[in-house]
Amino acid sequence: MAQAGGRARLNKIIGMQAREIEAAARHHLLTPAEDMSALGRAARPLITHGEGIYVYDAMGRRLIDGPGGMWCTQVGYNRSEIADALQRQALSLAYNSPWYTTNTPAAELAARIARHTPGDLNRIFFTTGGSTAVDSALRFVEYYNNVLGRPEKKHIIVRRDGYHGSTSLTAACSGRTGNWANFDIASDRISFISSPNVRLAGNKSEAEFLDTLVEEFQQTITTVGPRNVAVFLAEPLLASGGVIIPPAGYHARFKAICDEHDIVYISDEVVTGFGRCGEWFASEPVFGVVPDIITFAKGVTSGYVPLGGLAISERLVDKVSGANAKGGYFSNGFTFSGHPVSCAAALANMDVIESEGILDHVKAISGYFHERLASLAGLPLVADVRAVGLVGCVECQIDTSLPQATEADKRLGARIDAHCIELGLIVRPIGNMCVMSPPLIITRAQIDDMIEMLREGIVRTAAEIAADSQQAQKV
Ligand SMILES: Cc1ncc(COP(=O)(O)O)c(C=O)c1O
Repeated sequence: MAQAGGRARLNKIIGMQAREIEAAARHHLLTPAEDMSALGRAARPLITHGEGIYVYDAMGRRLIDGPGGMWCTQVGYNRSEIADALQRQALSLAYNSPWYTTNTPAAELAARIARHTPGDLNRIFFTTGGSTAVDSALRFVEYYNNVLGRPEKKHIIVRRDGYHGSTSLTAACSGRTGNWANFDIASDRISFISSPNVRLAGNKSEAEFLDTLVEEFQQTITTVGPRNVAVFLAEPLLASGGVIIPPAGYHARFKAICDEHDIVYISDEVVTGFGRCGEWFASEPVFGVVPDIITFAKGVTSGYVPLGGLAISERLVDKVSGANAKGGYFSNGFTFSGHPVSCAAALANMDVIESEGILDHVKAISGYFHERLASLAGLPLVADVRAVGLVGCVECQIDTSLPQATEADKRLGARIDAHCIELGLIVRPIGNMCVMSPPLIITRAQIDDMIEMLREGIVRTAAEIAADSQQAQKV
């Protein structure tokens, strides 16, 4: 009760101050994906606090966190277990230099993560988030091949529609070309192959489509030269690309080709790791592949504090360490690598996931989530619905008979999102797609609420579009 009273007071203060806060943001913040033409004029919604699967805005509206923040709020908001762990660690040791000391939470977390990684991926390097995790994974392979005396083996193969981050190198590896405008992205060390999007298979069966993708991969390796190709970097499912789920068997086929040519397979589990698909890591149990390196971030702390990392195969590490090190230092790192407070938060987060059986909950409830999402198929605008675990996408098009979206569909997600916000749901609009990756603690009743709001948002948008087109015909 005391907590609820405090919250009401906080709301009131924030309500009074909201205009000032929004003005400060408008004048002084530069935020990710900023629309530069509106800089200083547009303000993003001010979120004041969260509780379970909900966040609240400065107007006091309660919103279902449909995208789970940025696919990261696994155990939900207002978890005292994690907040207390943060406080305890900050008071006992807020920082130590990872360059010449270590700390207990980082060591414990590394050992605990290694217990859940597949194969021999037992060596953990901590970073500050997902981009730095992928960047560090790529730098590790660069280092590895140089130490092994094959400096020519540097080429990276990635997919169109993939997303791997916002450092120079990870942005260059990201195949969502819409993000490239006005940045110098091109790199002759990187090749893009097709997105494994079954919607683009045309008349081919899924198996035939997979054969085409495999052939293209092999052909790319042949063109670049197998001795030059260092890495295949892939998300198990292409998350920001629109929850693109590759054909069955895709990852295992690609891994076999990587093995044939001594190419390191990096599985970017920044989204799929830490329970999103009902497993600590999805690569092996869900997607059938034991990669050489796994990158993670986001859900490792449920978003409470920043942390990322990578798990590297001992086989790889052994080749460049001990007697094989040739005097080398892996001189890659961050002031906040293995930050004690972040690692303490991750340990507390893993405790919550384990003690509440959240992985089993995700496995049990995913079928219901998929079923309810599928109930949106057939609505006007809905061209495709797809999901794995607790991540799903409703892809919308004005003309649903077309095999893929056109320029005219680009704002559909934002339009649906605007209606859903009014109804009490945040959607993650990516162009014409509505992506759902709610906190993993979501219940069946809350899934019902989320889907019904999304349904209504789509219906209202479709009605608006129909009215617009009638109006245009009159003119
Ligand atoms: C698959 C994947 N890799 C890497 C990143 C980058 O992570 P961060 O934004 O924490 O740097 C993201 C972010 O969405 C991602 O989805």
